[in-house]
Amino acid sequence: MPEKITIEKGSVQETLIIPLYGRKLCAEVFPKLYTDPSAAKICSRLDYDFSSLDKQANSTFWRFGALEAAMRQLDMQWEINDYLASHPAAAVINMGCGLDQTGRACDNGTCRIYNVDMPDIIEAREQLSPAGERELNVASNLNDFVWMDQVDGSAGAVFFAAGVFHYFTEGQARALVNELAERFGGCRIVFDTVGKLGKRLMRTTFKNFGMENYDECLAVDDPTVLRSWCPKAAVSWRGYMLGYYPMDDPAVTGLHRFLARLCDGAVKMRINRFDVA
Ligand SMILES: C[S@@+](CC[C@H](N)C(=O)[O-])C[C@H]1O[C@@H](n2cnc3c(N)ncnc32)[C@H](O)[C@@H]1O
Repeated sequence: MPEKITIEKGSVQETLIIPLYGRKLCAEVFPKLYTDPSAAKICSRLDYDFSSLDKQANSTFWRFGALEAAMRQLDMQWEINDYLASHPAAAVINMGCGLDQTGRACDNGTCRIYNVDMPDIIEAREQLSPAGERELNVASNLNDFVWMDQVDGSAGAVFFAAGVFHYFTEGQARALVNELAERFGGCRIVFDTVGKLGKRLMRTTFKNFGMENYDECLAVDDPTVLRSWCPKAAVSWRGYMLGYYPMDDPAVTGLHRFLARLCDGAVKMRINRFDVA
């Protein structure tokens, strides 16, 4: 039996459990919409008490949470595949990767995959699924820009962050985007945000994971403000739940669709894209 891997409790790193479990659940409940062979396997290797999550797994709201995790990953994959269509040997960089395998899901056989996260998560990743050919795991705080030295963007670069920018202040998010734009001309940067209402709804998550800087963290109500972040980039955005795919699966209920519209509308959940000149 391989050794079980521990994720530190009460830390920003522990936030990876929610989307990981969500993807596992979504693949079980909505198989026509989403498949993710890695999520269940990785959950089984973690020394983590999933019992409270398992108890809620049949509830409509928890299933909707699983849909959120899966739709975001599908949205990111759409953006990566779209970029790779014109830059087949590009670098694909998963910023705040957690234990997610989106880079591999988009592997076209010629791109290079980078996974960046805090050192303990990268160590866990190396044990669970060591970096493959054309893949590099980078242990670094994203806000310490030296990690970018390791990325070869000579054939293009698509950077994406799923569920990560919520934990940054606006200043940190802007600085990261600007540094990427300065260093990697022609790159694409994709990340999700929520509006102020969404941030209020996430308060419990922040508290549960021991994060005290909740009030300072990023919320984007009006996406046009993102245009002022980086004058070198064309900025666009889409709804997170329904902006890319229609959520087709017989197990998706009317209530799920209503909640999806609410998330894309009032909660202002969005996927934002910067195409840098
Ligand atoms: C909600 S999880 C999302 C994980 C993954 N993107 C996914 O979709 O499954 C947030 C991830 O961002 C990472 N993270 C947050 N702040 C970070 C920072 N400043 N530098 C590096 N990683 C960070 C956490 O360690 C965690 O793995």
